[in-house]
Amino acid sequence: MADKAKFQAIKGVRDILPPESALWNSGEQTAREVFGTFGFAEIRLPIFEQTELFARSVGLDTDIVSKEMYTFEDHGHRDIEFARKFALNTERYLKPGYPFGMERFLQAVDAFVDAVEGAFSGDKSLESRANKEALLEIKQATSQMWPLVTPDGAVTNEDAFRSFAIRIVFRLQSFHFENLLTLRPEATASVVRAYIEHGMQVQPGNVKLYYMGPMFRRERPQKGRYRQFYQIGAEVLGTSDAPGIDAEVIEMLMTLFERLKLKGTILNINSIGDKNCRPAYVEKLRAEFEKVREQLGADSQRRIETNPLRVLDSKLEHEQAIIEKLPRIGENLCDDCRAHYAEVKRQLDLRGIRYQENWRLVRGLDYYMRTTFEITAPGLGSQNAVCGGGRYDGLVELLGGPAATKGIGFAIGTDRLILSLQEAGEGAAAGGPAGKAGGPDVYLAWFGAAAQTAAIGLAKRLRDAGFVVELPAVEMKFGKSLGLADRLRARHAVIVGDDELAAGIVTVKRLSDGAQQKLAEPGLMLYLRA
Ligand code: HAM
Repeated sequence: MADKAKFQAIKGVRDILPPESALWNSGEQTAREVFGTFGFAEIRLPIFEQTELFARSVGLDTDIVSKEMYTFEDHGHRDIEFARKFALNTERYLKPGYPFGMERFLQAVDAFVDAVEGAFSGDKSLESRANKEALLEIKQATSQMWPLVTPDGAVTNEDAFRSFAIRIVFRLQSFHFENLLTLRPEATASVVRAYIEHGMQVQPGNVKLYYMGPMFRRERPQKGRYRQFYQIGAEVLGTSDAPGIDAEVIEMLMTLFERLKLKGTILNINSIGDKNCRPAYVEKLRAEFEKVREQLGADSQRRIETNPLRVLDSKLEHEQAIIEKLPRIGENLCDDCRAHYAEVKRQLDLRGIRYQENWRLVRGLDYYMRTTFEITAPGLGSQNAVCGGGRYDGLVELLGGPAATKGIGFAIGTDRLILSLQEAGEGAAAGGPAGKAGGPDVYLAWFGAAAQTAAIGLAKRLRDAGFVVELPAVEMKFGKSLGLADRLRARHAVIVGDDELAAGIVTVKRLSDGAQQKLAEPGLMLYLRA
């Protein structure tokens, strides 16, 4: 086969092309408008963060952290690795009878210490405990070695010098300067990190933020499931955990879906308790699972140890009957959680929001507590969750922020949102440029150098007036130019040639029916507007 295309987008990653991209833009724009009316403002977040941020918040035993993250080592500190290797190389100066001075080893170790301390001062996150200890021991040893070096570079007590050096070499060998970064698999952790980092708790009332952009998870690609996918998310952070906040966040979501004409959505809600009542429930589940361990699949068996709640998510046919008989979280909530959940439901009722209770809705991220919810939409096949969210009081504290801070939020899967709209034929109805049938308002055909000058000026004035104008960059024969106008599906061809220039008019041809007339510029504007 001749000349095959060499590069392709990576599996699970795709290009979003026009006209579909216009639908994305209008969906995102509608989200901005709706969220704005609820007092939310946009936060723009980095695409990568320290790996540890996600490991801690999403949780080590989750699918996301244990197998789906794109993680890489930050190569910004090659100088440290270089200094470390160089210092280890100078070990040869310590050999008896080596012709150069032993102090060269010490100089190299000092250079290494400088490099590490420089990196630490630039980025506190690099200061792991092990590294700090190693550095301290190296510095203590060198401070005792320098006095053994005489001004002419000789060493007064070579045995003592060597025994300090051995400890340093050992530390240098084990020094591991690891700085792992991860492409964000979700953004709640980043929002919380930013909230803490910028001291946002001093702001009055609740901090309400939204974000949109790509997320990365190494999942098995299929319809509605990608490795680079997009989310539109929102978070509320503050000292209140009033159930009215939960309900309002859900109301905001439903308002957006309504505005986008996304029909057939189903809201599922649940409460998964808090640190007071959940542990006992989890133990209860674990005990029940132990009784039927042999009947469970491999994944569920593993989860008996790591995270029994996640077994409730199982889609395996033969596990369903077992799961249906399990004790339910709703009957095991403490009084506070029970009251919170009841009030969330009442607040949803007050807003006229319909929901289904789903006691098996536990969600795949560790930070959730109390309210969890998911929204499904039609046309998506098995990946039908278009949005997931919940309450995560305690996450701010876990990441080092003020203990009293509460949080709740959601993320919409934008890919799935658009897919569902397209499947329902709402692609064009969603408004914005996607709603227009493609081509430019005006194809501005010009003939001759003088006409080009006039056409450039006219194109500018038409665009300033808001019309979409296609202006050929090179002169074409009349037939070819008008043929291109047709193929671009332009609504009108505006023709500027010598005759038109002389008369101070243009010829306008409506391409749908060929109707033609000659107009001066003010008339042209009026005609196009009509
Ligand atoms: P999540 O349930 O992991 O929650 O993701 C939210 C939504 O993102 C899903 O319902 C789905 O629509 C979409 N999504 C997830 N993975 C993929 C994928 N591989 N391909 C396409 N779409 C996908 C979170 O991410 C939480 N941070 C939500 C949240 C915010 N909770 C509280 N605040």
